[in-house]
Amino acid sequence: MITIALALHLLATLIWVGGMFFAIMVLRLAAGELDPPIRVPLWGRVFQRFFPWVWMAVIILPLSGYWMIFSVWGGFAGLPLHVHIMQALGLIMILIYLHIWFAPYRRFRIALSNSDIPEAGKNLNQIRILVTVNLIIGLVTSVVGSTGRYW
Ligand code: HEM
Repeated sequence: MITIALALHLLATLIWVGGMFFAIMVLRLAAGELDPPIRVPLWGRVFQRFFPWVWMAVIILPLSGYWMIFSVWGGFAGLPLHVHIMQALGLIMILIYLHIWFAPYRRFRIALSNSDIPEAGKNLNQIRILVTVNLIIGLVTSVVGSTGRYW
């Protein structure tokens, strides 16, 4: 059973962090040359398809994580340091994502549906900064989570 929890945990991590890496390090640079009226709605379609996967990850990660904590370590007493760090960083990532969803992304969608490209672009920039922060935390969390048992 624990193998299922760990497998789900790892797959959710790969999809979320890998997706952010692709968005920031590849698609952002490749799409940067497009004019805003083309580029900004393109990001709208990208988020529409990527964010449901992120919702899946922000639900699966804590569920599978706490499942492992209770079944492997029997709770929080005696939990190894790397799991404490992962849990803290994971919760920060989830809060940042919720903020993206309910603040700049909501404004971005409203602006886009009003064809207000400058306003949508302003919010896209905020989303970009927050996703970059989450990408950095996500890479660190993945390394801590997977190497922690050896230190
Ligand atoms: C509420 C949040 C989280 C909790 C409670 C949690 C808990 C755990 C636990 C208990 C393990 C097993 C550790 C071990 O056996 O040494 C684990 C592994 C791992 N976690 Fe998390 N985690 C959380 C969030 C995250 C996030 C946000 C990421 C990445 C972005 C992440 C990435 C990993 C990775 C890569 C592993 C190692 C998988 C492997 O064995 O290769 N975790 N996590």
